[in-house]
Amino acid sequence: MKKTTVQPGTKVAPERFYITIETNGPYMVYGHPPLAQEFIIPNEEGASWSFQKGTSYPTDKEPTALCRCGHSKNKPYCDGSHLKADWYPEMTAPEEPLLDAAEAFQGPEVSLTDNQSYCAFARFCDAKGRVWNLVGMDGKEARELTIREANYCPAGRLSAWDNETQQPFEPHYDPSLALIEDPAIHSSGPLWVRGGIPISREDGYTYEVRNRVTLCRCGESGNKPFCDGTHASFKFKDGLPGLDARKKE
Ligand code: FES
Repeated sequence: MKKTTVQPGTKVAPERFYITIETNGPYMVYGHPPLAQEFIIPNEEGASWSFQKGTSYPTDKEPTALCRCGHSKNKPYCDGSHLKADWYPEMTAPEEPLLDAAEAFQGPEVSLTDNQSYCAFARFCDAKGRVWNLVGMDGKEARELTIREANYCPAGRLSAWDNETQQPFEPHYDPSLALIEDPAIHSSGPLWVRGGIPISREDGYTYEVRNRVTLCRCGESGNKPFCDGTHASFKFKDGLPGLDARKKE
């Protein structure tokens, strides 16, 4: 069995928190982490800019089974629909650390790493200039925007690094779960796992522990268990309240 790796900048959650992914079924959540919707809120220009918390859902059951196939009639929870649904549960994501396959962009003060296969299509990287351009620019504003846009990436596809310390500017998250909702494109998104919660398969393999992870909950990702943005292409709807009622900031 491979040794579990921890991504730089990640603080591993206390032991009671973990997720086990059933081979053909749901995410089994342990430790009662808080679970709530998080809406992507656009700025005046219509670009993804911030998150706004929505309805909370209990995780009292130990474990709490959360839908992974996208077909439950009781989302965010599993109702057994995966047994009859037409979906492909195979977890085909590479088992290498995210940074091993990331591209690096060197800037004057900060740098950027990018592993595209983890993209959850949240689009914070485009908010005020493309982060790949900003990283190469001089000045405080470009530096701050580079860090902001990378840190808002829920999937952890993007990380900004301090050239001097060689450490990432990783945002702090307590162990928690969120159901991403993206009203601008009328789509629900992935399950956002924050704060270094270990995620394992039933066969005992544990994925690299990371501070920001987006797990597919539409059932259609080509990089399972992670989201690859496919939900946006068919406007996945979880049926929870608020998707069409959010206002711009
Ligand atoms: S939730 Fe994003 S691809 Fe399934």
